Amino acid sequence: MPKVLLTGIAGFIGFHLARRMAQEGHSILGIDSLNNYYNPELKLARLKELGISPGSIRDNTPVASRIFPSLSFLKLDLADRDLTERFFKKETFSLVIHLAAQPGARTSLTQPYAYVDNNILGFINILEGCRHIHTDHLLYASSSSVYGGNVKQPYAEDDRVDTPVSLYAATKRSNELMAYTYSHLFGMPVTGLRFFTVYGPWGRPDMAYYKFVKAIVENRSVDVYNNGNLERDFTYVDDIIEGILSVLKRNPSGQPPYQIFNIGHSEPVNLLRFLEVIEDALGKKATKRFLPMQAGDVLSTFADTSKLEHYSGYKPITPIQEGIRKFVQWYLSYHSITG
Ligand SMILES: NC(=O)c1ccc[n+]([C@@H]2O[C@H](COP(=O)([O-])OP(=O)(O)OC[C@H]3O[C@@H](n4cnc5c(N)ncnc54)[C@H](O)[C@@H]3O)[C@@H](O)[C@H]2O)c1
Repeated sequence: MPKVLLTGIAGFIGFHLARRMAQEGHSILGIDSLNNYYNPELKLARLKELGISPGSIRDNTPVASRIFPSLSFLKLDLADRDLTERFFKKETFSLVIHLAAQPGARTSLTQPYAYVDNNILGFINILEGCRHIHTDHLLYASSSSVYGGNVKQPYAEDDRVDTPVSLYAATKRSNELMAYTYSHLFGMPVTGLRFFTVYGPWGRPDMAYYKFVKAIVENRSVDVYNNGNLERDFTYVDDIIEGILSVLKRNPSGQPPYQIFNIGHSEPVNLLRFLEVIEDALGKKATKRFLPMQAGDVLSTFADTSKLEHYSGYKPITPIQEGIRKFVQWYLSYHSITG
């Protein structure tokens, strides 16, 4: 099996992918800076699930998993050019999956440098590393946010994407352009995946679904932006993982060997309907606080996933009711909330 570098392993999607790939016996080195964009306790708890005990973590020193013999973890900040350069001089990987990034469209209005450091500087360091080690395939996370102000729906990969409405979206679109250039110049096989609003157990506390559940459980009101006139193509995390694995079955081979796929459920759900699904799963009603549209937000997202389906045969399948039920179950158990 190819040796895999997985960045962002302590993050929401990285954790799920690592667990799945480690169960399949892949040899994986996972990297994360464990930054405090949201509570690092959750990142450490995810690592613990992977057999990496928090007490054993030291900067720039690999730690072996106690559960998965083929998995280890390295705390490293990919925005640190010197350290990342040194890392790629010592290690080589046939597959690099780059999920580490500073997420969150709205925060990019107030903390722009976190996005430039982690998503632009971090990304060029990965590209340079991959060029140095001649990796067989670099797969990286892009985002539905690159579709920005587009009105044509569903969003397809060959639509123009020149109108990012947040700096976060602009960094993700920049990644796509940078990756294209490296593929063109150096023949680097690269795949970009545009994820659509990913949710599920071990999810991110900064995302709306997490905040909704937390507020309802704590008897607080739920902030509903644009008076609920928003739609999202919510995609269950296991479907994202299946989508990633389906793309990994073969390396890109075009000229240049560069490709981009949407991974989304392809069924936009209105925010108020989404809240009803959460209320049903919790057996409790929300108190809603209606607020105006937020800067950096888009009205609606909707993935055309026919390109992925044609390429790999995979299409996301999990209904929102099932996905939210699983998230709520996890939320209550993780936070030790009973009855
Ligand atoms: N969750 C979603 O809905 C969604 C949607 C579209 C795209 N994405 C993209 O998918 C990827 C994974 O997202 P997620 O939801 O798991 O986010 P996450 O924040 O939970 O995970 C990202 C991880 O990357 C790490 N990281 C950040 N900067 C780093 C650096 N410089 N060096 C090393 N590690 C660093 C963080 O500590 C974090 O653990 C990201 O690239 C994100 O932009 C996510």
